[in-house]
Amino acid sequence: MDLYDAIKGRRSIRKFKQTPVAKDLLEKIFDIALWAPSGMNRQNWKLFVLTGERKEELVSICSTSFEYLEPQLQELFAEKPKIVEATRRFFKRLGGAPVVVCAYFEPANTVDVTSYQNVAAVIQNMLLVAHAEGLGTCWMTGPVYVTNQIDRFLGVTNMTLVAIIPLGYPDETPKVPPRRPDRVVYQGF
Ligand SMILES: Cc1cc2nc3c(=O)[nH]c(=O)nc-3n(C[C@H](O)[C@H](O)[C@H](O)COP(=O)(O)O)c2cc1C
Repeated sequence: MDLYDAIKGRRSIRKFKQTPVAKDLLEKIFDIALWAPSGMNRQNWKLFVLTGERKEELVSICSTSFEYLEPQLQELFAEKPKIVEATRRFFKRLGGAPVVVCAYFEPANTVDVTSYQNVAAVIQNMLLVAHAEGLGTCWMTGPVYVTNQIDRFLGVTNMTLVAIIPLGYPDETPKVPPRRPDRVVYQGF
């Protein structure tokens, strides 16, 4: 798939088919995604890829994060209650995704302005490669509200959770959310 098409055609997917994702396909996706740039080339990301029973347990922990998100959603979408309800449904099972990825970074010894950006670069690569392979994903920070429970479940200590990404074959074709204009300022032309 052409890079431009991958960037523009990728959508956040919130409903997945049950079809499992082959482990060698996942390995291929992460092999490519980890070619992301990182500050001082530290590559201090750490990804946990869960499926089966482990994934089910993780999903039920993540689903509890909706209660922290709900007040913000109610306020933001006061005129659109259907969005709040759709989000509630999505958080319950993470759209039925057969795979869920937890993206972390290991802490730096010095002042750390790069780590979130390092992990974000890997995540975007992962989303694009997954899309090019016919898979769907959704970059989620909502579950970060229950970081402590997720850390404990994974046995993680001393790392920071950046996002949770459900992954699988899409079972929906979402509308294209419009992009805001005037977000780039050109000077000196
Ligand atoms: C940092 C970040 C956090 C996000 N968190 C969530 C989330 O918690 N739940 C969710 O449903 N979507 C989440 N999204 C997906 C956005 O809602 C989505 O990217 C946006 O609406 C644009 O739609 P598109 O991805 O289909 O282009 C997140 C995206 C980003 C980049």
